[in-house]
Amino acid sequence: MSKRVAVIGAGPSGLAQLRAFQSAKNNGEEIPEIVCYEKQEDWGGLWRYSWRTGLDQYGEPVHNSMYRYLWSNGPKEGLEFADYTFEEHFGKPIASYPPRAVLFDYIEGRVKKAGVRDWIKFNTAVRWVSYDEASGMFSVSVQDLPTGNTTTEEFDHVVAANGHFSTPNVPQFDGFDRFNGRVLHAHDFRDAVEFKNQDILIIGTSYSAEDIGSQCWKYGCKSVTVSHRTAPIGYKWPDNWKEVPLLEKVEGNTCTFIDGSTADVDAIILCTGYKHHFPFMDDSLKLETANRLATAMLYKGVAFVDNPKLFYLGMQDQWYTFNMFDAQAWWARDVMMGKISIPDKAAMNADIADREAREDALEDDYACIVYQGDYVRELIAETDYPSFDVDASDAAFFQWKKDKKKDIMGFRDNAYVSPMTGNKAPVHHTKWCEAMDDTLESYLQN
Ligand SMILES: Cc1cc2nc3c(=O)[nH]c(=O)nc-3n(C[C@H](O)[C@H](O)[C@H](O)COP(=O)(O)OP(=O)(O)OC[C@H]3O[C@@H](n4cnc5c(N)ncnc54)[C@H](O)[C@@H]3O)c2cc1C
Ligand SMILES: NC(=O)c1ccc[n+]([C@@H]2O[C@H](COP(=O)([O-])OP(=O)(O)OC[C@H]3O[C@@H](n4cnc5c(N)ncnc54)[C@H](OP(=O)(O)O)[C@@H]3O)[C@@H](O)[C@H]2O)c1
Repeated sequence: MSKRVAVIGAGPSGLAQLRAFQSAKNNGEEIPEIVCYEKQEDWGGLWRYSWRTGLDQYGEPVHNSMYRYLWSNGPKEGLEFADYTFEEHFGKPIASYPPRAVLFDYIEGRVKKAGVRDWIKFNTAVRWVSYDEASGMFSVSVQDLPTGNTTTEEFDHVVAANGHFSTPNVPQFDGFDRFNGRVLHAHDFRDAVEFKNQDILIIGTSYSAEDIGSQCWKYGCKSVTVSHRTAPIGYKWPDNWKEVPLLEKVEGNTCTFIDGSTADVDAIILCTGYKHHFPFMDDSLKLETANRLATAMLYKGVAFVDNPKLFYLGMQDQWYTFNMFDAQAWWARDVMMGKISIPDKAAMNADIADREAREDALEDDYACIVYQGDYVRELIAETDYPSFDVDASDAAFFQWKKDKKKDIMGFRDNAYVSPMTGNKAPVHHTKWCEAMDDTLESYLQN
Protein backbone atom coordinates (compact mmCIF):
# COMPACT_ATOMS: atom_id res chain seq x y z
CA MET A 1 0.00 0.00 0.00
CA SER A 2 1.64 3.26 -1.10
CA LYS A 3 -0.87 5.59 0.54
CA ARG A 4 0.34 8.35 2.88
CA VAL A 5 -1.63 9.68 5.87
CA ALA A 6 -0.90 12.91 7.78
CA VAL A 7 -2.10 13.10 11.39
CA ILE A 8 -2.19 16.58 12.96
CA GLY A 9 -1.55 16.44 16.71
CA ALA A 10 -0.22 13.78 19.11
CA GLY A 11 -2.77 14.24 21.90
CA PRO A 12 -5.13 11.43 22.92
CA SER A 13 -6.97 11.61 19.55
CA GLY A 14 -3.90 11.65 17.33
CA LEU A 15 -2.28 8.90 19.40
CA ALA A 16 -5.47 6.84 19.06
CA GLN A 17 -5.05 7.13 15.29
CA LEU A 18 -1.44 5.93 15.47
CA ARG A 19 -2.39 3.05 17.75
CA ALA A 20 -5.25 2.07 15.39
CA PHE A 21 -2.87 1.75 12.44
CA GLN A 22 -0.22 -0.01 14.51
CA SER A 23 -2.78 -2.56 15.70
CA ALA A 24 -3.69 -3.34 12.05
CA LYS A 25 0.01 -3.73 11.28
CA ASN A 26 0.36 -6.08 14.23
CA ASN A 27 -2.39 -8.18 12.69
CA GLY A 28 -0.29 -8.57 9.55
CA GLU A 29 -2.12 -5.95 7.48
CA GLU A 30 -0.31 -3.61 5.14
CA ILE A 31 -0.82 -0.07 6.41
CA PRO A 32 -0.22 3.36 4.82
CA GLU A 33 2.83 5.45 5.66
CA ILE A 34 1.86 7.59 8.66
CA VAL A 35 3.38 10.98 9.48
CA CYS A 36 2.12 12.66 12.65
CA TYR A 37 2.96 16.35 13.16
CA GLU A 38 3.03 17.64 16.73
CA LYS A 39 3.92 21.22 17.50
CA GLN A 40 4.92 20.50 21.10
CA GLU A 41 8.15 18.76 22.06
CA ASP A 42 6.34 15.74 23.48
CA TRP A 43 3.08 13.80 23.13
CA GLY A 44 -0.03 13.77 25.33
CA GLY A 45 -1.82 16.91 24.08
CA LEU A 46 -3.56 18.78 26.90
CA TRP A 47 -2.39 16.13 29.36
CA ARG A 48 1.20 17.29 28.87
CA TYR A 49 1.29 20.11 31.43
CA SER A 50 3.16 23.30 30.62
CA TRP A 51 3.74 26.21 32.94
CA ARG A 52 3.80 28.52 29.93
CA THR A 53 0.93 30.81 28.98
CA GLY A 54 0.50 33.05 25.94
CA LEU A 55 3.20 32.27 23.41
CA ASP A 56 5.83 29.55 23.70
CA GLN A 57 9.57 29.79 23.10
CA TYR A 58 8.95 29.82 19.33
CA GLY A 59 6.20 32.44 19.41
CA GLU A 60 3.57 29.72 18.93
CA PRO A 61 0.26 29.94 20.89
CA VAL A 62 0.60 27.67 23.96
CA HIS A 63 -1.72 24.68 23.52
CA ASN A 64 -2.04 23.71 27.18
CA SER A 65 -5.26 24.59 29.04
CA MET A 66 -4.66 22.29 32.00
CA TYR A 67 -3.44 23.43 35.40
CA ARG A 68 -1.55 22.14 38.40
CA TYR A 69 -3.59 19.95 40.75
CA LEU A 70 -6.08 19.00 37.97
CA TRP A 71 -7.71 15.65 38.66
CA SER A 72 -9.98 13.85 36.22
CA ASN A 73 -13.39 15.47 36.40
CA GLY A 74 -15.17 12.26 35.41
CA PRO A 75 -14.52 8.70 36.61
CA LYS A 76 -11.69 6.91 34.82
CA GLU A 77 -14.17 4.06 34.31
CA GLY A 78 -15.81 6.24 31.61
CA LEU A 79 -12.64 6.81 29.59
CA GLU A 80 -10.66 3.55 29.88
CA PHE A 81 -9.04 2.17 26.70
CA ALA A 82 -10.61 -1.16 25.76
CA ASP A 83 -7.28 -2.47 24.43
CA TYR A 84 -5.16 -1.32 27.39
CA THR A 85 -6.76 -1.25 30.82
CA PHE A 86 -5.67 0.74 33.86
CA GLU A 87 -4.88 -2.54 35.57
CA GLU A 88 -2.63 -3.63 32.72
CA HIS A 89 -0.76 -0.33 32.85
CA PHE A 90 -0.41 0.11 36.62
CA GLY A 91 -0.31 -3.59 37.51
CA LYS A 92 -3.11 -3.18 40.08
CA PRO A 93 -6.50 -1.49 40.44
CA ILE A 94 -6.22 2.25 41.14
CA ALA A 95 -8.72 4.83 42.42
CA SER A 96 -11.33 6.41 40.14
CA TYR A 97 -10.34 10.09 39.68
CA PRO A 98 -6.65 10.15 38.74
CA PRO A 99 -4.73 13.42 38.76
CA ARG A 100 -3.36 14.69 35.45
CA ALA A 101 0.08 13.10 35.82
CA VAL A 102 -1.45 9.66 36.34
CA LEU A 103 -3.62 9.94 33.24
CA PHE A 104 -0.66 11.22 31.22
CA ASP A 105 1.29 8.15 32.32
CA TYR A 106 -1.57 5.89 31.24
CA ILE A 107 -1.93 7.57 27.82
CA GLU A 108 1.82 7.34 27.30
CA GLY A 109 2.02 3.70 28.43
CA ARG A 110 -0.14 2.46 25.57
CA VAL A 111 1.75 4.24 22.82
CA LYS A 112 5.14 3.38 24.28
CA LYS A 113 4.09 -0.25 24.16
CA ALA A 114 2.84 0.20 20.58
CA GLY A 115 6.19 1.68 19.54
CA VAL A 116 4.80 4.50 17.39
CA ARG A 117 6.98 7.38 18.58
CA ASP A 118 9.05 7.27 15.39
CA TRP A 119 5.96 8.16 13.36
CA ILE A 120 5.79 11.57 15.07
CA LYS A 121 7.64 14.72 14.03
CA PHE A 122 7.78 16.80 17.21
CA ASN A 123 8.29 20.58 17.37
CA THR A 124 6.58 20.70 13.98
CA ALA A 125 3.56 22.96 13.47
CA VAL A 126 1.15 22.40 10.61
CA ARG A 127 0.82 25.72 8.81
CA TRP A 128 -1.42 24.99 5.80
CA VAL A 129 -3.51 22.15 4.42
CA SER A 130 -5.06 22.33 0.94
CA TYR A 131 -6.52 19.82 -1.51
CA ASP A 132 -5.85 19.49 -5.21
CA GLU A 133 -8.86 18.12 -7.11
CA ALA A 134 -6.75 17.16 -10.11
CA SER A 135 -4.28 14.95 -8.25
CA GLY A 136 -6.68 13.95 -5.47
CA MET A 137 -3.95 14.72 -2.93
CA PHE A 138 -3.61 17.01 0.09
CA SER A 139 -0.65 19.37 0.38
CA VAL A 140 0.47 19.77 3.99
CA SER A 141 2.92 22.58 4.77
CA VAL A 142 4.68 22.34 8.11
CA GLN A 143 7.25 24.39 9.97
CA ASP A 144 10.07 22.92 11.96
CA LEU A 145 9.91 25.29 14.94
CA PRO A 146 13.55 25.20 16.10
CA THR A 147 14.94 25.98 12.62
CA GLY A 148 11.97 27.86 11.16
CA ASN A 149 12.23 25.80 7.96
CA THR A 150 8.99 25.16 6.13
CA THR A 151 8.40 22.11 3.94
CA THR A 152 5.43 20.72 2.04
CA GLU A 153 4.46 17.10 1.49
CA GLU A 154 1.62 15.33 -0.32
CA PHE A 155 -0.82 12.96 1.41
CA ASP A 156 -3.80 10.84 0.39
CA HIS A 157 -5.55 11.51 3.71
CA VAL A 158 -5.40 14.03 6.52
CA VAL A 159 -6.59 13.40 10.09
CA ALA A 160 -7.09 16.61 12.10
CA ALA A 161 -6.62 15.70 15.77
CA ASN A 162 -5.55 19.08 17.06
CA GLY A 163 -8.18 19.36 19.83
CA HIS A 164 -10.69 22.15 20.42
CA PHE A 165 -10.06 23.32 23.97
CA SER A 166 -7.08 25.59 23.36
CA THR A 167 -8.34 28.73 21.65
CA PRO A 168 -10.23 30.64 24.35
CA ASN A 169 -13.60 32.31 23.87
CA VAL A 170 -13.04 35.67 25.57
CA PRO A 171 -16.09 37.93 26.00
CA GLN A 172 -15.69 41.57 26.99
CA PHE A 173 -17.54 43.17 29.90
CA ASP A 174 -17.92 46.88 30.61
CA GLY A 175 -15.11 48.14 32.87
CA PHE A 176 -12.61 45.31 32.31
CA ASP A 177 -10.14 47.87 31.01
CA ARG A 178 -10.31 49.74 34.33
CA PHE A 179 -10.44 46.72 36.71
CA ASN A 180 -7.78 46.89 39.43
CA GLY A 181 -7.09 43.15 39.56
CA ARG A 182 -6.23 40.39 37.13
CA VAL A 183 -8.61 39.26 34.36
CA LEU A 184 -7.72 35.92 32.81
CA HIS A 185 -9.30 33.12 30.81
CA ALA A 186 -9.34 29.54 32.12
CA HIS A 187 -6.85 28.70 29.32
CA ASP A 188 -4.23 30.76 31.21
CA PHE A 189 -5.09 29.49 34.72
CA ARG A 190 -2.17 27.47 36.08
CA ASP A 191 -1.98 27.46 39.88
CA ALA A 192 -4.80 27.98 42.38
CA VAL A 193 -2.30 29.03 45.05
CA GLU A 194 -1.99 32.35 43.19
CA PHE A 195 -5.52 33.16 44.39
CA LYS A 196 -5.03 32.24 48.06
CA ASN A 197 -6.82 34.76 50.35
CA GLN A 198 -8.44 36.45 47.34
CA ASP A 199 -12.08 37.04 46.46
CA ILE A 200 -12.54 35.68 42.96
CA LEU A 201 -15.27 36.07 40.35
CA ILE A 202 -15.80 33.26 37.86
CA ILE A 203 -17.88 33.77 34.73
CA GLY A 204 -19.43 30.63 33.19
CA THR A 205 -21.09 27.57 34.69
CA SER A 206 -19.56 24.56 33.00
CA TYR A 207 -16.67 22.25 33.94
CA SER A 208 -13.93 24.89 33.96
CA ALA A 209 -16.05 27.12 36.19
CA GLU A 210 -16.90 24.44 38.72
CA ASP A 211 -13.40 22.90 38.77
CA ILE A 212 -11.33 26.10 38.80
CA GLY A 213 -13.65 27.47 41.51
CA SER A 214 -13.20 24.23 43.46
CA GLN A 215 -9.42 24.36 43.05
CA CYS A 216 -9.27 27.94 44.31
CA TRP A 217 -11.52 26.99 47.24
CA LYS A 218 -9.34 23.95 48.07
CA TYR A 219 -6.16 26.01 47.99
CA GLY A 220 -7.51 28.76 50.22
CA CYS A 221 -9.14 31.60 48.32
CA LYS A 222 -11.34 33.83 50.48
CA SER A 223 -14.54 33.52 48.42
CA VAL A 224 -15.87 32.32 45.08
CA THR A 225 -18.63 34.14 43.19
CA VAL A 226 -19.89 32.42 40.03
CA SER A 227 -21.76 34.50 37.47
CA HIS A 228 -24.09 32.78 35.02
CA ARG A 229 -25.55 33.77 31.67
CA THR A 230 -28.17 31.01 31.43
CA ALA A 231 -28.66 29.29 34.81
CA PRO A 232 -26.75 28.74 38.06
CA ILE A 233 -24.80 25.49 38.46
CA GLY A 234 -26.89 24.62 41.49
CA TYR A 235 -24.74 22.33 43.64
CA LYS A 236 -24.64 22.62 47.43
CA TRP A 237 -21.60 24.89 47.58
CA PRO A 238 -19.47 25.71 50.64
CA ASP A 239 -20.45 28.78 52.69
CA ASN A 240 -17.94 31.10 51.02
CA TRP A 241 -19.31 30.32 47.54
CA LYS A 242 -22.28 32.05 45.89
CA GLU A 243 -23.94 32.10 42.50
CA VAL A 244 -25.11 35.35 40.88
CA PRO A 245 -26.62 36.43 37.54
CA LEU A 246 -24.54 37.72 34.63
CA LEU A 247 -21.97 40.43 35.19
CA GLU A 248 -23.11 43.82 33.94
CA LYS A 249 -20.14 46.08 34.67
CA VAL A 250 -16.98 46.52 36.70
CA GLU A 251 -16.00 49.75 38.49
CA GLY A 252 -12.69 49.59 40.33
CA ASN A 253 -12.93 46.25 42.12
CA THR A 254 -16.72 46.30 42.38
CA CYS A 255 -18.67 44.00 40.07
CA THR A 256 -22.34 44.75 39.44
CA PHE A 257 -24.59 41.95 38.19
CA ILE A 258 -27.73 42.33 36.10
CA ASP A 259 -30.01 41.96 39.16
CA GLY A 260 -28.28 44.99 40.72
CA SER A 261 -26.36 42.98 43.31
CA THR A 262 -22.63 43.65 43.72
CA ALA A 263 -19.43 41.92 44.83
CA ASP A 264 -15.93 43.25 45.42
CA VAL A 265 -13.33 40.92 43.92
CA ASP A 266 -9.57 40.67 43.45
CA ALA A 267 -9.53 38.60 40.25
CA ILE A 268 -11.89 37.62 37.44
CA ILE A 269 -11.54 34.24 35.73
CA LEU A 270 -13.40 33.80 32.45
CA CYS A 271 -14.51 30.16 32.25
CA THR A 272 -16.32 30.92 29.04
CA GLY A 273 -15.27 27.98 26.89
CA TYR A 274 -13.25 27.54 23.74
CA LYS A 275 -13.50 27.93 19.96
CA HIS A 276 -12.98 25.29 17.29
CA HIS A 277 -10.03 26.86 15.52
CA PHE A 278 -8.27 25.58 12.42
CA PRO A 279 -6.08 28.44 11.14
CA PHE A 280 -4.09 25.96 9.03
CA MET A 281 -7.04 24.65 7.02
CA ASP A 282 -7.98 25.96 3.60
CA ASP A 283 -11.53 27.40 3.77
CA SER A 284 -12.90 24.46 1.77
CA LEU A 285 -11.62 22.03 4.44
CA LYS A 286 -12.40 23.99 7.60
CA LEU A 287 -14.74 22.48 10.20
CA GLU A 288 -17.29 24.97 11.50
CA THR A 289 -19.33 23.63 14.38
CA ALA A 290 -20.66 24.45 17.81
CA ASN A 291 -19.32 22.48 20.79
CA ARG A 292 -22.05 19.83 20.73
CA LEU A 293 -22.50 16.07 20.63
CA ALA A 294 -23.58 15.99 16.97
CA THR A 295 -20.86 17.96 15.22
CA ALA A 296 -21.83 19.78 12.04
CA MET A 297 -20.20 18.79 8.72
CA LEU A 298 -18.94 15.37 9.89
CA TYR A 299 -20.40 12.09 8.64
CA LYS A 300 -20.45 9.64 11.59
CA GLY A 301 -18.96 12.52 13.59
CA VAL A 302 -15.63 11.93 11.84
CA ALA A 303 -15.50 12.20 8.01
CA PHE A 304 -15.64 15.72 6.52
CA VAL A 305 -18.67 15.72 4.22
CA ASP A 306 -17.22 18.07 1.59
CA ASN A 307 -14.13 15.89 1.28
CA PRO A 308 -14.39 12.57 3.13
CA LYS A 309 -10.69 11.83 2.64
CA LEU A 310 -10.28 14.29 5.51
CA PHE A 311 -11.17 13.24 9.07
CA TYR A 312 -11.61 15.22 12.28
CA LEU A 313 -11.22 13.35 15.59
CA GLY A 314 -12.51 14.39 19.00
CA MET A 315 -14.38 17.49 17.86
CA GLN A 316 -17.54 16.68 19.85
CA ASP A 317 -18.47 18.03 23.25
CA GLN A 318 -17.23 15.27 25.49
CA TRP A 319 -18.71 12.96 28.11
CA TYR A 320 -16.82 10.05 26.62
CA THR A 321 -13.20 10.88 25.78
CA PHE A 322 -10.31 8.45 25.29
CA ASN A 323 -12.35 5.43 24.22
CA MET A 324 -14.54 7.62 21.98
CA PHE A 325 -11.39 8.92 20.25
CA ASP A 326 -10.33 5.28 19.83
CA ALA A 327 -13.70 4.37 18.31
CA GLN A 328 -13.34 7.26 15.85
CA ALA A 329 -9.70 6.48 15.03
CA TRP A 330 -10.38 2.79 14.35
CA TRP A 331 -13.34 3.77 12.14
CA ALA A 332 -11.34 6.39 10.20
CA ARG A 333 -8.50 3.87 9.78
CA ASP A 334 -10.88 1.37 8.22
CA VAL A 335 -12.21 3.98 5.77
CA MET A 336 -8.62 4.84 4.80
CA MET A 337 -7.80 1.14 4.41
CA GLY A 338 -10.86 0.57 2.21
CA LYS A 339 -12.72 -1.63 4.68
CA ILE A 340 -15.56 0.83 5.28
CA SER A 341 -17.11 2.70 2.37
CA ILE A 342 -18.43 6.23 2.45
CA PRO A 343 -21.95 6.81 1.04
CA ASP A 344 -22.94 9.67 -1.30
CA LYS A 345 -23.14 13.24 -0.03
CA ALA A 346 -26.93 13.24 0.42
CA ALA A 347 -26.69 10.16 2.66
CA MET A 348 -23.86 11.74 4.67
CA ASN A 349 -25.87 14.92 5.20
CA ALA A 350 -28.90 12.85 6.21
CA ASP A 351 -26.72 11.09 8.81
CA ILE A 352 -25.69 14.46 10.30
CA ALA A 353 -29.26 15.82 10.28
CA ASP A 354 -30.45 12.67 12.05
CA ARG A 355 -27.75 12.96 14.72
CA GLU A 356 -28.56 16.64 15.28
CA ALA A 357 -32.30 15.99 15.56
CA ARG A 358 -31.75 13.18 18.05
CA GLU A 359 -29.43 15.36 20.12
CA ASP A 360 -31.90 18.26 20.07
CA ALA A 361 -34.57 15.96 21.50
CA LEU A 362 -32.45 14.88 24.51
CA GLU A 363 -34.00 15.98 27.78
CA ASP A 364 -31.20 15.85 30.31
CA ASP A 365 -27.54 15.00 30.95
CA TYR A 366 -28.36 11.33 31.52
CA ALA A 367 -29.84 11.13 28.03
CA CYS A 368 -26.74 12.90 26.64
CA ILE A 369 -24.49 10.27 28.25
CA VAL A 370 -26.53 7.43 26.73
CA TYR A 371 -26.51 9.21 23.35
CA GLN A 372 -22.71 9.49 23.30
CA GLY A 373 -22.28 5.95 24.65
CA ASP A 374 -24.51 4.69 21.83
CA TYR A 375 -22.37 6.62 19.35
CA VAL A 376 -19.22 4.92 20.65
CA ARG A 377 -20.97 1.55 20.43
CA GLU A 378 -22.10 2.27 16.86
CA LEU A 379 -18.56 3.01 15.66
CA ILE A 380 -16.81 0.13 17.40
CA ALA A 381 -19.38 -2.32 16.02
CA GLU A 382 -18.04 -1.47 12.54
CA THR A 383 -14.37 -2.18 13.36
CA ASP A 384 -12.20 -4.64 15.28
CA TYR A 385 -11.76 -2.28 18.26
CA PRO A 386 -12.32 -4.52 21.30
CA SER A 387 -15.98 -4.48 22.18
CA PHE A 388 -16.70 -3.34 25.74
CA ASP A 389 -19.60 -2.90 28.10
CA VAL A 390 -20.73 0.62 27.18
CA ASP A 391 -23.71 0.28 29.51
CA ALA A 392 -21.25 -0.15 32.39
CA SER A 393 -19.48 3.08 31.36
CA ASP A 394 -22.83 4.87 31.13
CA ALA A 395 -23.58 3.54 34.64
CA ALA A 396 -20.29 4.96 35.98
CA PHE A 397 -21.21 8.37 34.51
CA PHE A 398 -24.72 8.17 36.00
CA GLN A 399 -23.33 7.41 39.45
CA TRP A 400 -20.77 10.22 39.03
CA LYS A 401 -23.60 12.72 38.35
CA LYS A 402 -25.43 11.55 41.47
CA ASP A 403 -22.26 11.69 43.58
CA LYS A 404 -21.63 15.27 42.46
CA LYS A 405 -25.14 16.25 43.43
CA LYS A 406 -24.68 14.68 46.85
CA ASP A 407 -21.33 16.29 47.61
CA ILE A 408 -19.60 18.50 45.04
CA MET A 409 -16.40 18.76 47.05
CA GLY A 410 -16.40 15.04 47.89
CA PHE A 411 -17.48 13.30 44.67
CA ARG A 412 -13.89 12.33 43.81
CA ASP A 413 -13.75 10.18 46.96
CA ASN A 414 -16.02 7.57 45.34
CA ALA A 415 -15.05 4.40 43.45
CA TYR A 416 -16.63 2.70 40.43
CA VAL A 417 -16.54 -0.60 38.51
CA SER A 418 -14.30 -0.90 35.44
CA PRO A 419 -16.31 -1.69 32.28
CA MET A 420 -13.24 -3.50 30.97
CA THR A 421 -12.26 -5.75 33.90
CA GLY A 422 -15.43 -5.76 36.04
CA ASN A 423 -13.27 -4.91 39.06
CA LYS A 424 -14.25 -2.16 41.48
CA ALA A 425 -11.65 0.55 42.04
CA PRO A 426 -10.21 1.02 45.53
CA VAL A 427 -11.20 4.17 47.43
CA HIS A 428 -8.34 6.69 47.34
CA HIS A 429 -6.27 6.87 50.54
CA THR A 430 -6.92 10.61 51.07
CA LYS A 431 -10.03 12.69 50.55
CA TRP A 432 -9.70 14.99 47.50
CA CYS A 433 -10.20 18.07 49.71
CA GLU A 434 -7.18 17.10 51.80
CA ALA A 435 -4.97 15.59 49.08
CA MET A 436 -2.49 18.38 48.36
CA ASP A 437 0.14 16.01 46.93
CA ASP A 438 -1.22 14.90 43.56
CA THR A 439 1.94 13.27 42.22
CA LEU A 440 1.76 9.89 40.53
CA GLU A 441 3.80 8.35 43.34
CA SER A 442 1.36 9.57 45.98
CA TYR A 443 -1.76 8.58 44.03
CA LEU A 444 -0.57 5.03 43.43
CA GLN A 445 -0.01 4.27 47.12
CA ASN A 446 -2.88 1.91 47.72
C1 LIG B 1 -8.91 22.07 31.31
C2 LIG B 1 -9.34 20.77 30.69
C3 LIG B 1 -9.51 19.66 31.49
C4 LIG B 1 -9.93 18.46 30.95
N1 LIG B 1 -10.11 17.40 31.79
C5 LIG B 1 -10.54 16.23 31.30
C6 LIG B 1 -10.75 15.12 32.18
O1 LIG B 1 -10.60 15.25 33.39
N2 LIG B 1 -11.10 13.94 31.65
C7 LIG B 1 -11.26 13.79 30.30
O2 LIG B 1 -11.55 12.68 29.86
N3 LIG B 1 -11.11 14.83 29.45
C8 LIG B 1 -10.76 16.05 29.92
N4 LIG B 1 -10.60 17.11 29.07
C9 LIG B 1 -10.99 16.94 27.67
C10 LIG B 1 -9.83 16.81 26.66
O3 LIG B 1 -10.34 17.45 25.54
C11 LIG B 1 -9.48 15.38 26.30
O4 LIG B 1 -9.19 14.60 27.44
C12 LIG B 1 -8.29 15.22 25.35
O5 LIG B 1 -7.14 15.90 25.79
C13 LIG B 1 -8.57 15.63 23.92
O6 LIG B 1 -7.59 15.05 23.13
P1 LIG B 1 -7.26 15.58 21.66
O7 LIG B 1 -6.11 14.77 21.19
O8 LIG B 1 -8.49 15.59 20.85
O9 LIG B 1 -6.82 17.10 21.84
P2 LIG B 1 -5.60 17.73 22.65
O10 LIG B 1 -5.37 17.00 23.90
O11 LIG B 1 -5.90 19.17 22.70
O12 LIG B 1 -4.32 17.47 21.70
C14 LIG B 1 -4.17 18.12 20.45
C15 LIG B 1 -2.70 18.09 20.03
O13 LIG B 1 -2.58 18.74 18.75
C16 LIG B 1 -1.42 19.55 18.75
N5 LIG B 1 -1.58 20.61 17.75
C17 LIG B 1 -2.50 21.60 17.74
N6 LIG B 1 -2.35 22.38 16.67
C18 LIG B 1 -1.31 21.87 15.96
C19 LIG B 1 -0.66 22.25 14.75
N7 LIG B 1 -1.07 23.31 14.02
N8 LIG B 1 0.39 21.52 14.32
C20 LIG B 1 0.83 20.43 15.03
N9 LIG B 1 0.25 20.05 16.18
C21 LIG B 1 -0.81 20.75 16.64
C22 LIG B 1 -1.34 20.07 20.17
O14 LIG B 1 -0.04 20.52 20.50
C23 LIG B 1 -1.79 18.86 20.98
O15 LIG B 1 -0.69 18.05 21.35
C24 LIG B 1 -10.19 18.35 29.57
C25 LIG B 1 -10.03 19.47 28.75
C26 LIG B 1 -9.61 20.67 29.31
C27 LIG B 1 -9.46 21.88 28.44
N1 LIG C 1 -10.67 17.75 34.61
C1 LIG C 1 -11.41 18.77 34.92
O1 LIG C 1 -11.77 18.90 36.05
C2 LIG C 1 -11.80 19.81 33.91
C3 LIG C 1 -11.67 21.12 34.26
C4 LIG C 1 -11.98 22.10 33.34
C5 LIG C 1 -12.44 21.76 32.06
N2 LIG C 1 -12.57 20.47 31.73
C6 LIG C 1 -13.03 20.11 30.36
O2 LIG C 1 -12.79 21.21 29.49
C7 LIG C 1 -13.78 21.26 28.48
C8 LIG C 1 -14.30 22.69 28.32
O3 LIG C 1 -15.08 23.09 29.43
P1 LIG C 1 -15.37 24.62 29.71
O4 LIG C 1 -16.13 24.72 30.97
O5 LIG C 1 -14.10 25.38 29.57
O6 LIG C 1 -16.24 25.10 28.45
P2 LIG C 1 -17.77 24.82 28.07
O7 LIG C 1 -18.21 23.52 28.61
O8 LIG C 1 -17.91 25.06 26.62
O9 LIG C 1 -18.62 25.94 28.86
C9 LIG C 1 -18.54 27.28 28.54
C10 LIG C 1 -19.27 28.11 29.59
O10 LIG C 1 -19.06 29.49 29.29
C11 LIG C 1 -20.29 30.17 29.32
N3 LIG C 1 -20.19 31.32 28.41
C12 LIG C 1 -19.77 31.33 27.12
N4 LIG C 1 -19.81 32.58 26.63
C13 LIG C 1 -20.25 33.39 27.64
C14 LIG C 1 -20.50 34.77 27.75
N5 LIG C 1 -20.31 35.60 26.71
N6 LIG C 1 -20.95 35.24 28.92
C15 LIG C 1 -21.16 34.40 29.97
N7 LIG C 1 -20.95 33.08 29.93
C16 LIG C 1 -20.49 32.57 28.77
C17 LIG C 1 -21.31 29.14 28.91
O11 LIG C 1 -22.55 29.56 29.38
P3 LIG C 1 -23.99 29.14 28.78
O12 LIG C 1 -24.35 27.90 29.51
O13 LIG C 1 -24.83 30.29 29.11
O14 LIG C 1 -23.79 28.93 27.31
C18 LIG C 1 -20.76 27.90 29.64
O15 LIG C 1 -21.20 27.89 30.97
C19 LIG C 1 -14.83 20.23 28.88
O16 LIG C 1 -14.65 19.09 28.09
C20 LIG C 1 -14.51 19.88 30.31
O17 LIG C 1 -14.82 18.55 30.63
C21 LIG C 1 -12.28 19.49 32.64
